[in-house]
This record gives sequence, C-alpha cells and structure tokens, in this order.
Amino acid sequence: MDGRCFFASIPQQPLSAVLARGIVVCCMSQFSAYTVSIHYDRRLYRQDIAGSIAHARMLARQGIISDEDSASIAEGLGRIQLEIQADEFPWDPSLEDLHMNIERRLHDLIGPAAGRLHTGRSRNDQIALDMRLYTREVVEEVISGLRQVQRALLGLARRYQPVVMPGYTHLQRAQPVLFAHHMLAYFEMFQRDIGRFGDCRRRADVLPLGSGALAGVPYPTDREFLAKELGFSGISANSMDAVSDRDFVVEFMAASALGMMHFSRMSEELIIWSSGEFGFVRLAEEFTTGSSIMPQKRNPDFAELARGKTGRVYGDLMGLLTTLKGLPLTYNRDLQEDKEGFFDTVDTLHTTIQVFAAMLPGMELQSERVESLAGESGMLATDLADYLVGKGVPFREAHGIMRALCRHCDEREIHLLHLPLAEYREFSTHFAADVYDITAAASAAARDNPGGTAPSRVAQALDLAEQILEETGNGA
Ligand code: ARG
Repeated sequence: MDGRCFFASIPQQPLSAVLARGIVVCCMSQFSAYTVSIHYDRRLYRQDIAGSIAHARMLARQGIISDEDSASIAEGLGRIQLEIQADEFPWDPSLEDLHMNIERRLHDLIGPAAGRLHTGRSRNDQIALDMRLYTREVVEEVISGLRQVQRALLGLARRYQPVVMPGYTHLQRAQPVLFAHHMLAYFEMFQRDIGRFGDCRRRADVLPLGSGALAGVPYPTDREFLAKELGFSGISANSMDAVSDRDFVVEFMAASALGMMHFSRMSEELIIWSSGEFGFVRLAEEFTTGSSIMPQKRNPDFAELARGKTGRVYGDLMGLLTTLKGLPLTYNRDLQEDKEGFFDTVDTLHTTIQVFAAMLPGMELQSERVESLAGESGMLATDLADYLVGKGVPFREAHGIMRALCRHCDEREIHLLHLPLAEYREFSTHFAADVYDITAAASAAARDNPGGTAPSRVAQALDLAEQILEETGNGA
C-alpha cells in the first residue's frame, strides 16, 4: 500500500494547458484544490483500470463500440498501469481525481478512441465499483493476517500448554486458569472478527457498474457479463442505491474498529504483564524500546501504539457515519470523503496485524512466576468454598465461611493453605486433612465443563482451533 503524499510535489498545470488537451475541468480557481482527491484516490488505480478494461470489453461485445477501439483502450490502459507501477505516470491534480487522470492519459496514448470508454458509465458507478473491488481485496488480506495472528496465539498456547496462571476479574486475582485458555480467548475474538469481515465481503461482492449516474444507462449493456469478468457474485438491484451506498465501507470500518478493540485489549494486557510489578511476560527486544534517560527501561511501545491507534480507527468510523447520515439520494460529492478515513483504517489495521503476528511468537512467559502466583492464598478461596459444598454445606454458607477465613488470614498475614487444620476447623468442622490437596492445578482441572479451563477441555479447544486453521487456510 502506497501511503506517500505526493500532492504537494506536483505543480499545478495551467488551465490553458488542460483545455488544450480537450478536457473540461469545472470551476478551476484558486479553490480548486478543495475538490481534488487524486493524492489519495490514486491508490485505487488497479481497480479502476480493471473495471475500465472489463467495461470496454463489454461495450464491444454488445456492439456499442468497435472491437478495435476496445482493444486499443485495453492496450492503453495496460500501458498506464505499467507507468503508474514504474512511478512514471504524469499525475495532474488539476484533473481532480483518478478517473480523469487515467482518461486524459488514455487520450494522450491512443487518441479519440479513449473518448468512447465512458459510454454507458458515470464516475458515480465507476467509483462505487472501484471501492467495492478494493474492499473485497483488502478483506482478503485482513482475514489472512488475522489467521496469522491466530496461528501465533495457538503457538504460544501450545508452547506453554500446562502452565497455570492467575485469572482476573476487576484486575484482582480471581481463579487459576491455564495460560493456553487465556490465549484461546483471543483466538475466539479474532474468529468473530474474521466472521464479520467475511460478512462485509459478501455484501461488497455486488457489481454497481451499469447504474450510470443514478438511473441506469440508455445502452444495451450486459451487467451479468461485467459481473463475471470482475468476479462479482451478483449485480446491484437498484441503480439509485448502488451509486450512493457506502454501507460496505462502514461495515469494513466497524469490523476494523472491533478488531482494533481486541488488539487494544491484548495490548493492555501485554503492557501490564510486562511491567516489573506483574513480571508475567518478556516481549522480544525488537518490540520494546529503551528510554533516553532511564537505562533499565524496556518500554512496550508497539503494544502501546496499537492501543493508541485504536482511537483513530474509531474516529474514522464515526467520521464516515457522520458524513453519510444526512445525504439525500443519490450521489453527493460528500461521498468522496469516504476514502481517507477508510484508507487510514486499512493501513492502521494492516500494520497492527503485522506487528502482532511478528511480536507474539517472540513473547516469553515467565512460567515459574505465574504458577507461583496462581497458587497463592486468595486464588483458591472459591475452591475451598466448593470443597465445603462437596461436604454438604450450602454454597452461600460456604462462601460466608470462606470470607471470614480469608479475612482471618489477611489480618494475620498467613497463606490460606498454611493454616493448621485445627484453625480451619474453628471456622467449619467440615474441614479435614484433604483440604491441603487443593492446588492451583487441581483448581483448574476441576473446571471440567465445556468452555472451562481444565487441561482436558483446553486440549480439546486447541485441537478444534488447529482444525479451524487447517480447514480455512488463510481464508474465512
Ligand atoms: N472523486 C469522486 C468520488 O470519489 C468520483 C465521483 C465523482 N462524481 C461526480 N459526479 N463528481 O466520489
């Protein structure tokens, strides 16, 4: 993806030079830069050219233009594509957008036949087409990137499969869980994200071309042929909707916002976990930075930036929703404002995915530390309550007994499991010597119901996750 801003470096062409080429540009004035989109919509050049070649082919098949004109249009567009790729294309901001730049260049290259390309088409259905083609492509990339992240999570889960760590609620140590269970929680989140991107792809996969400016076109075009040429599953049913609909962009951005939210939550955990206070993980050197004055620092900047960049992706989504909310049918120029935020979201999500796919495999779990914390006092209080339930005590009563016991231990600063049996029995005569069998590992193993953290359940969940990755490859 090409993020360079080249707009400022391109000299404005004098209006006379533009007019001499026979191109009509409306309202060239000192304010014309306001309407220019070429510095960002040129990203869509491959989609625009593919759409134009298919359109020209269709026009010739239908006898609307000649085969020779269609062939020379396709040949000229091919050359333009190479010029753009070689960075030799003469971009001209006075021509406003991508479509006009390409059409003007085509005219330079092949002469008057270029003027026949826009038969039965408007920039309104053209840009709708480009955006749908682009969305379809980036969805594939995002899904395959998310699959890589899932693979990395699975790798970590397998590497540290038996390790028990503290699980938290309210960021207070709550109950022991397997580290693998924790990693698989994120696997699930990304699994849902992939589902949402798949949905977005399905709705983007509809051909808008043939809608014209808004009402359809007065030529015997073949939209089904176009759909097949461009790999769409179907054609849009209503021309007015097709030229003004950007729901699929909103869907992409909403799915991205959720995906970034998941990355942000994971980032927050990595940041906390890699602090001296927690000391749960060490991030690979290349994903941390030192401080300019404090030599001991290993700052988790990549995770922090992912958390920070989540905000701008939310902002992009709100920006587009706000742009769309007051638009009457059909096309309005406001729709041009769909692109910058969308591209920003695409780039932000894309790079975040790449960072996580590379950062996670190098993360080291401090197994001894997390296991020792998982076995600490308060972590097993629920298990002791469950122990009493096993001896016939009603749960509420058992909970009350354990509350009193925990307070007792806190006041005396003793580890719950170091309490002598006689002291236990002051709180309930149901306590017996087997109370000392309760450990973090036993606690986790006891949660042996579907979705629970028992090692057997986690092993099944890992197998299932692996199967999902095998069956889907890099796709949805
Ligand atoms: N640059 C425009 C956009 O992105 C292309 C469509 C222009 N259509 C028009 N009627 N001015 O929306």
